[in-house]
Amino acid sequence: MPNVVIVGAQWGDEGKGKVVDIYTEHADEVIRFQGGNNAGHTLVVGDEKTILHLIPSGILHPGKRCIIGNGVVLDPRVFIKEIENLKAKGYMQDDSQLVIDGNVHIIMPYHTNIDIAREEKKGDKKIGTTGRGIGPAYEDKIGRRGIRLNDLIRPDVFARKLQEVLPEKNFYLEKYLGKAPLSEEGILEEYSGYAETLKKYVGCSSTILGKSIAEERNLLFEGAQGALLDVDHGTYPFVTSSSTVSGSACIGSGVGPRCIDHVIGISKAYVTRVGGGPFPTELLDEMGDELRNAGNEFGSTTGRPRRCGWFDAVALREAVRTSGLTGLAITKLDVLNDLESIKVCTAYSYKGEMLEQFPRDFEVLRECQPVYEELEGWQCDISEVTKLEDLPQAARNYLDKLVELAGCPMVLVSVGPRRDQTIQVSNPFLQG
Ligand code: IMP
Repeated sequence: MPNVVIVGAQWGDEGKGKVVDIYTEHADEVIRFQGGNNAGHTLVVGDEKTILHLIPSGILHPGKRCIIGNGVVLDPRVFIKEIENLKAKGYMQDDSQLVIDGNVHIIMPYHTNIDIAREEKKGDKKIGTTGRGIGPAYEDKIGRRGIRLNDLIRPDVFARKLQEVLPEKNFYLEKYLGKAPLSEEGILEEYSGYAETLKKYVGCSSTILGKSIAEERNLLFEGAQGALLDVDHGTYPFVTSSSTVSGSACIGSGVGPRCIDHVIGISKAYVTRVGGGPFPTELLDEMGDELRNAGNEFGSTTGRPRRCGWFDAVALREAVRTSGLTGLAITKLDVLNDLESIKVCTAYSYKGEMLEQFPRDFEVLRECQPVYEELEGWQCDISEVTKLEDLPQAARNYLDKLVELAGCPMVLVSVGPRRDQTIQVSNPFLQG
């Protein structure tokens, strides 16, 4: 105890990896519970940068066990490469540091091919997915025709399941999407090799965590993407295909909600989004470019330039509610260093009406205009500040405003990519 969930409070890319990395020091186990290699968590240790897509960020700490929970979708090709890279850098020398739940669903080659071909076919109506097969893999899970890791490691079961599902996939690929069909033998051969490598990591996340909870070990649940990309509570259909809110930590790892003590939401000091979909505070002018360049806002998974905009308190309040946030970590405050003044969206205006809550009706949301309050910038470098009281008054005023608008206390402020460029206000693991 305590057990802490970390989730993105915006549209992803909030800097969760760094916060997870910092809190891992206090955790015994770090658990991923949803999403797949659509995520990209960038970690900087010393001068070395590591980008992780699937494996929990806790892997950089020897001795901490990392678990990939049942709610994740796993692409073996990416996963194996990630392990090789980590090992080459000297991490993960002990294979027992990592456990993958046997019920994770496997991202198959037809999932990626369908994802990419579908987006192509949609043209300007596309979602802007990462093209990693995430949506098609979750579709098969819900449609009860998915292939799980437990199936993959049993050659006869894998062959039977593939034989059942592949004709339908090939029909869809060929006849509807106009793409080449996939060879059953080819997949069987390639994936049998993966099964051999993956076997040693297979375990049961629910059983392991149940024991850890009974022994009062500290658990850290690491969310991927962000609350506004949640398939139920986000800006549907411009969302990912998993539940990204905190409740998903329980479902995606096999623990009950009563074991969660704190939920920390990560939010940038401004907003970014990749892919399509509504973004009320988006800046399509030079200021957007300035934020993108200052914040190096290019996707760590796809390299796409991220859309940038002012901080949006209306959207953040949605995340505070849907994830039941108990604390807020504000990241990339230093990106705003040079600005003379900074805008914060406090409400939306919709056909003359003021909305303080995020509209759940897509048609309303797309017509909302942000209502801004303007605050003074601090125009100096804060990237080495490690205490709140050492921040310039204008930066403190800015943070106070964000916290007041969000209605959630602040636990951490990040002022640069390195571990030591962090202001810790109150650490959830030290609160009991
Ligand atoms: P998918 O998850 O690849 O299906 O993509 C669906 C939407 O979620 C697209 O707008 C993606 O850009 C977005 N998305 C998925 N994963 C991430 C992430 O880790 N960070 C930011 N956006 C993401």
